[in-house]
Amino acid sequence: MSYVELKNICKKYKGNDKNSVTDFNLEIEEKEFIAFVGPSGCGKSTTLRMIAGFEDITSGDLLIGGSRMNETAPADRGISMVFQNYALYPHMTVEKNISYGLKNMKVPSAEIQRKVDWAVEILGLEEYRYRKPKNLSGGQRQRVALGRAIVKNQKLFLMDEPLSNLDTKLRVSMRNEISKLHRSLGSTTIYVTHDQVEAMTMADRIVIMKDGVVQQVGKPMELYEHPINKFVAGFIGSPQMNFYDVKVDGEGIVFSDGKKMKLPDAVKGKLQGYDHVVMGIRGEDIKLDSSNMEVYAECRQKAVIDNTEIMGNENNLYFQFGGITSVARVSKYEVSQVGDEIDFVFMPHKMHFFDAKTELAITADV
Ligand SMILES: Nc1ncnc2c1ncn2[C@@H]1O[C@H](COP(=O)(O)OP(=O)(O)O)[C@@H](O)[C@H]1O
Ligand SMILES: [Mg+2]
Repeated sequence: MSYVELKNICKKYKGNDKNSVTDFNLEIEEKEFIAFVGPSGCGKSTTLRMIAGFEDITSGDLLIGGSRMNETAPADRGISMVFQNYALYPHMTVEKNISYGLKNMKVPSAEIQRKVDWAVEILGLEEYRYRKPKNLSGGQRQRVALGRAIVKNQKLFLMDEPLSNLDTKLRVSMRNEISKLHRSLGSTTIYVTHDQVEAMTMADRIVIMKDGVVQQVGKPMELYEHPINKFVAGFIGSPQMNFYDVKVDGEGIVFSDGKKMKLPDAVKGKLQGYDHVVMGIRGEDIKLDSSNMEVYAECRQKAVIDNTEIMGNENNLYFQFGGITSVARVSKYEVSQVGDEIDFVFMPHKMHFFDAKTELAITADV
């Protein structure tokens, strides 16, 4: 049995004429780490707050541990939550901040001490134990906020953009710490983020949302390799997937700038019955030609590099092709310069095709 279940959950705020969340369905297994991801305003926080009990559920059913929780008070749902704008008590030490909630819950003081010792240890806060928040760095404060939540030892852990206020480097290290923490605590976790990298790197499964509607639920690589529509394809992965409006002809596809590309039969077969589609291809699936790509000679194209991004570990090469600014991701050893004319091979089996009207994926990868 799944631990958390959302059945046709909808939310319509008073005074808002549109639904903020529509027909949200999801089953979450015990100990799973789920990420809700999507652009700002897509309904992630609203959904999380309905699970926590801080927002009323307009319609649908919420089950936690098999019991309907729609009307249950937040304190009785067995959850602890970390917000983006967590407020620590400025006049209290780290230790007091962490123990405060437990005191309110009337936990015996010996147990409080034991839990605080454990949290301080696991979060690496030992040497800051008697400091006040103003004397801590952003990352240390964030760890205190996590500490406050984990000592409650609840089965369900909810986090709403907990790392958004941290700088990039700290975000990466906290990302790791939260993943490790999740493994050692084993609590079921729902993590809200607008950052697809956080979702990809941390989650067992990702729920990707747009305009209050779940687009796709799946493991990170399922979403990456088999996006169900153009939105998911474009949201997951950086740099963004290249999208081309193409016409389908007997041999393959014709780009809007008139360039033609023959496709192998297996790929062409997916396009039967279509005369106009969107072709998507990720930057790493556009290869700088080398002779061993002869097998894909039909998909070789010439282009002139008009910008480069040297990332250190790899390079992004930009060029005008097929009516758009395209990007190829190549290895750091494949150095090219602006103005170079290069042969690129579009790996045909890595192309994604989307219905031009519905934007739904036409077929999966072969
Ligand atoms: N209290 C509210 N009253 C009316 N509309 C709201 C309220 N809170 C959020 N919304 C709207 O609901 C939608 C989803 O918001 P939210 O869940 O905060 O998105 P996210 O967390 O994904 O950025 C947005 O369009 C937002 O403007
Ligand atoms: Mg939000």
